[in-house]
Amino acid sequence: MATCVVVGSQWGDEGKGKITDLFAEQADVVARFQGGANAGHTVVVGEKKYKLHLVPSGILSPGKLAVIGNGVVVDPVQLNDELEYLKEAGIDVRGLRISNRAHAIMPYHRLLDRLEEESRGAGKIGTTGRGIGPAYVDKAARSGIRMGDLLDRDRLAQRLDVALASKNRVIERVYGYAPLTVEEVMLEIEESIQVLRQYITDTAGLLMDAIEAGKNVLFEGAQGTLLDVDFGTYPFVTSSNPTAGAATVGTGVGPRHIDKVVGVAKAYSTRVGEGPFPSELTNAVGETIRQRGNEYGTTTGRPRRCGWLDAVILRYSARVNGMDGLALNCIDVLDTLEDVKICVAYEYNGKRLETFPADLDELAKCRPIYETLPGWQTDLTKAKTLDDLPEAAKRYAHRIAELANCRLVSISVGPRRDQTIVLEPPFAEQ
Ligand code: GDP
Ligand code: IMO
Ligand code: MG
Repeated sequence: MATCVVVGSQWGDEGKGKITDLFAEQADVVARFQGGANAGHTVVVGEKKYKLHLVPSGILSPGKLAVIGNGVVVDPVQLNDELEYLKEAGIDVRGLRISNRAHAIMPYHRLLDRLEEESRGAGKIGTTGRGIGPAYVDKAARSGIRMGDLLDRDRLAQRLDVALASKNRVIERVYGYAPLTVEEVMLEIEESIQVLRQYITDTAGLLMDAIEAGKNVLFEGAQGTLLDVDFGTYPFVTSSNPTAGAATVGTGVGPRHIDKVVGVAKAYSTRVGEGPFPSELTNAVGETIRQRGNEYGTTTGRPRRCGWLDAVILRYSARVNGMDGLALNCIDVLDTLEDVKICVAYEYNGKRLETFPADLDELAKCRPIYETLPGWQTDLTKAKTLDDLPEAAKRYAHRIAELANCRLVSISVGPRRDQTIVLEPPFAEQ
């Protein structure tokens, strides 16, 4: 038996989906533990490209259980659409299980996400508009509706009646918007519930059973460490904990059962949405990275902000997540550059700062201090082993791992499964 948690170590979109899909070949169960359809995980299998938002990437490996844990916020309509899309692509979705404790995203959460963002004006967060923040607010306020509640029509209507009484006050009086009725909400979600009900169950029990039976369980994180509501660049964060600790509370598996944590990083940095980004490049190099890496959001299509790799952030992520290993992705995106830079520290108020600050104003004033390494100017996309990489690329990858204080578990040279140099398997014998 072994378990492994895959987390994003930057601002999301590190390629967690690709790594999860690869590791899933050796797993029996793959579980998401937080976030919702704000996630966009692109997985390339053969010539086919899949875009997943809520369904764990393990669904693409036949015969696995794909669990949506209690820590996830589930939009039933969005999930039903995603299942349709997967079925049409010929994917067998019978392995899906949805926690009856997971909170449901309702149409009013999506509406409030949009209205709240609009009202923030220049201080907007740049959310994905998927209702994530408002749904987690309701969970914490104890006024949410859980996936288990969707199974009983009368109970659901009763819960919606109570919820809408207070939501409509805000929708109408604060935002001057038309109120929602129980009937219209029911109508919007009813069809999806009928499809999803067969998958809704107590997934915490199921996961513990799998662990006790000696199965391999993989936990798939969404978003990234710097979007964590506690450890990220607050308030420019998401409303959940994408860090490894959440794999336990987000699924019902105790911390004693977590064996390994792999942090995924791109060989450079990207960010979607607002907030400080010390190593951001607004020049031609940033544009080269955006074009070569196709850095446009999977969920919203927005151009991602691009910059050099930030080792201050990686070191911080490695500590916050307790990362054993680092999966380094997208190194091929840098193939054409003459030299490559790594931000190794910040300059703050004339002093060298080696640690990631908690204070956002302080971070906004940090200037990157770079180490420059020679580029390789070679096409890496066909490399199969470490020896296939030119010296300069190897040096770059190893320097990043050294700065992050982690073992390199893989180096990825393209989006496909076979474009990965695996240095350490996810489930080594314990
Ligand atoms: P996630 O949200 O962390 O799963 O990452 P995304 O799927 O949003 O973004 C990562 C993008 O990079 C996807 O389009 C992947 O197909 C792609 N990708 C992953 N690994 C590599 C790689 O090594 N090289 C290149 N060029 N693209 C990659
Ligand atoms: P994956 O799993 C990148 C960002 C949004 C916004 C902030 C808050 O694909 O890595 P939210 O809708 O969560 O309230 O938005 O978080 N964000 C992501 N950025 N990748 C993601 O997911 C993201 N999920 C949310 O752009 O800045
Ligand atoms: Mg993504």
